[in-house]
Amino acid sequence: MLILRSRIFTPTADPFATDVDSSYKSFDDGYLAIEDDGRIAGVGDWNDRPAEGNVVELGRNALIAPGFVDTHLHAPQLEMIGSYGGDLLAWLNRYTFPTEGKFSDPEHALAIAQIFYDELLRNGTLCALIFSTIHYDATDIFFAEAERRGFRGIIGKTMMDRNAPDFLTETADDSYAQSRALLTKWHRRGLLRYAITPRFAPTSTTGLLERAGDLKREFPDAYVHTHISENRNEVLWVQQLFSFPEYADVYDHFGLLDDRTVLAHGVHLTEEELDLLSRRGSRIAHCPNSNLFLGSGLFRLHHVLDAGVIVGLGSDIGAGTTPSMFNAMADAYKVQQVQGVSLSPFHLWYLATLGGAKALSLDGEIGSIEAGKSADFLVLDLHATPLISMRSDRASSLEDLLAGLIFMGDDRVVSSSWIAGREVSKRA
Ligand code: GUN
Ligand code: ZN
Repeated sequence: MLILRSRIFTPTADPFATDVDSSYKSFDDGYLAIEDDGRIAGVGDWNDRPAEGNVVELGRNALIAPGFVDTHLHAPQLEMIGSYGGDLLAWLNRYTFPTEGKFSDPEHALAIAQIFYDELLRNGTLCALIFSTIHYDATDIFFAEAERRGFRGIIGKTMMDRNAPDFLTETADDSYAQSRALLTKWHRRGLLRYAITPRFAPTSTTGLLERAGDLKREFPDAYVHTHISENRNEVLWVQQLFSFPEYADVYDHFGLLDDRTVLAHGVHLTEEELDLLSRRGSRIAHCPNSNLFLGSGLFRLHHVLDAGVIVGLGSDIGAGTTPSMFNAMADAYKVQQVQGVSLSPFHLWYLATLGGAKALSLDGEIGSIEAGKSADFLVLDLHATPLISMRSDRASSLEDLLAGLIFMGDDRVVSSSWIAGREVSKRA
């Protein structure tokens, strides 16, 4: 058994649903005990530590916290971060589709996959729901590279059969067959899971959505990952393309909405759609950085939560401009601020960890540092830079310390990342 001695902070409950003060645990001088099988044996005050074990003292400037969970991003878009100008639909045509076309080359896919996972781990993202491209080999490579690093990933081959260049479209039957082959190879292999991934309604014919629904019926515990109501023109386009009352009805009609469904954005959802999503148990990945970058709109967090829809945070690389979940928390704060709502650091940290795990139905396994869960955690450096050091040392409370990290933190703060009790990344 490994016993780490450190300051420790972890959300343990939903602060949007319960009293904030009882939604987390913190230990000023704490222990984290990890079984040899990678599970958390216990966490608490140093004085209450287990009698036996290999002790490692991390010092007074370390803070152990749960790994971040990114509930929506596009691995192949890493190299086009910051491609500016235009709203969603212009941006897709001008930058995204040409960039994704390059993934017909497995060597290119491998090079980007390696950088992608290195970046996520360096930034403390230990679990993510990931779009690949339409390509079988590239998707296979994204899975294989995740496995090689011990990364906890939910990944899927993008499905598209219209309204995109020829080099990024396929037939509905091929899309089904290739998705099925990848699903049967990778779903539930170690820490990996498969997501059935129609890009969004506008790039799908009814035939493609039908086949995606077939796959979901065959494999009910597979995830469904797509986009919804990110941009007003997108919503209007869906109304022209399909004869359903609302956007969410398109996915529902084809059996794609259940509690394993994660829909990115949901900025412009109607009351009726929120009610439908709530009844189906489907989740929203809120991606504030991307929403600001593409000018998509301001997500009404409390409105969505009040409707009974579970929300996680996503970086949405490459419309999002950084993999850092510190930034996702900071931008989520600002998006609510301009709407007159101030989220506390406890609310933000919950969304980036346990809340994200809940959105991915993985909260029984990860998202917080509690006995019995997998030991997926970060060692943060409160003295990462001179400025962060000054800010941390002068913090007036735990809340204030976390706020400083949220607004000033990035990959420099992440000393090491651990998944299932194994150190998977360490800052040089
Ligand atoms: N909607 C459909 N595809 C995409 C994408 O690649 N990024 C974003 N942000 N929205 C999308
Ligand atoms: Zn996206």
